[in-house]
Amino acid sequence: MTNGAANGFDRQAIARRLADVRRRTRQLVSVLDWPRLRRQHIPILSPMVWDLGHIGHFEESWLCRRLAGAPPIHDGFERMFDPQINPRPSREALPLPERAALDDYLARVRAASLAVLERIEPATPADTELLAGGLVYELVAEHEEQHQETLLQAMQVLEAPGYEPAERRPTPSAAGEVTGMVEVPAGPFRMGWGGGGFAYDNELPQHRVDVAAFAIDRAPVSCADYREFVDAGGYRDRELWSEAGWAWCRERGAEAPRNWRRADDGGWRVRYMDSELPLPENRPVAHVSYWEAEAYARFAGKRLPTEAEWEKAALWDPATGGSRRWPWGDDPPGPEHANLDQLTFAPAEIGAYPAGASALGVHQMVGDVWEWTASDFAAYPGFRAFPYPEYSQIFFGDEYKVLRGGSWATRPAVARGTFRNWDFPIRRQIFAGLRCARSL
Ligand code: AVJ
Ligand code: FE
Repeated sequence: MTNGAANGFDRQAIARRLADVRRRTRQLVSVLDWPRLRRQHIPILSPMVWDLGHIGHFEESWLCRRLAGAPPIHDGFERMFDPQINPRPSREALPLPERAALDDYLARVRAASLAVLERIEPATPADTELLAGGLVYELVAEHEEQHQETLLQAMQVLEAPGYEPAERRPTPSAAGEVTGMVEVPAGPFRMGWGGGGFAYDNELPQHRVDVAAFAIDRAPVSCADYREFVDAGGYRDRELWSEAGWAWCRERGAEAPRNWRRADDGGWRVRYMDSELPLPENRPVAHVSYWEAEAYARFAGKRLPTEAEWEKAALWDPATGGSRRWPWGDDPPGPEHANLDQLTFAPAEIGAYPAGASALGVHQMVGDVWEWTASDFAAYPGFRAFPYPEYSQIFFGDEYKVLRGGSWATRPAVARGTFRNWDFPIRRQIFAGLRCARSL
């Protein structure tokens, strides 16, 4: 295998990255038997077997079919694992492969994509763009890493017995109290990805955004904060909800976040993944829908931040006027910065990551829980769909709300400070909480 430094990418490093990503995928599913992987646990999530096949199909599409013009490795899978052809609710009815056939497919795709990697040289300007810096390989790696979080969402809804991970790390305790709000002065900042290396099309281009003065909470909303809203009858107070939010709340009969349960002693028990705790006062609330986040913020006399406000609070450095890659600077995330990487299986206490605070002193913006923003998922000015419109472009519009910051279930590479996630406002099995803002 040659080292492709002349083409701006290192073939060996790419092969290692793809292997590392796959190792994690295998580790995550290793503790579940086939019937649980095959079942569609809720209609809004795929059977885990579909995610696994789709991971292979995406790799094959880009690294074998697109780059080398290869024919399909398995005719039936061409359509089966295409998300546009088979929307989520229909996936359980598909003739999904058994374990041996799935493993065989994934192995054949990997062998074929590594064979292409050994010899690929760009033949057209489009190839040159796809291969620059190994971009299309990072696309495939980050795609699989995002599906790892999707798999964890499906594992998250398993009950009796819940998901028990093969490996787990404890979360650090709070190093100090983090309370109150930070005032962010009016003025422009650079929004979006400006560094070299890979970012998704929806993070581009970097552009100036003028943001009016606002204040933002230094910490995510905690379970103790959120309990006040629940105990004050927030779920029965029409005034606190938007029209669509109230309709959701009534229809759903919601009374508390998805994983809160009243115990016999009258207190709340809160489940994060497989661990149920007496209400963890100082940990971020999780598994709330956008509608609940919005209602909580109104209850607190605040509102959700816009996406631009969120990013300015996270990345803007008043000392240089520029934007950092991460809240703490340009160094990649380490265990001291943020609760990321699918190892803790719960959010950490608020105040546990002082080294991860932003220049403005805002804590835990990256990691722990995704944070709902007030913004619809929309293109930045000058957006160009690349390398395919089905990643972002087809989702732009008012059906989806943007979430920022990543969660404990997000891999570091896809928790870039500029990374944009989006989801339906009704979703609550995702690892999402919130933080509040206020205009000044
Ligand atoms: C960015 C998480 C919304 O799961 O729909 C996976 C990521 N895109 N395969 C999704 C994605 C294509 C996407 N989210
Ligand atoms: Fe996908």
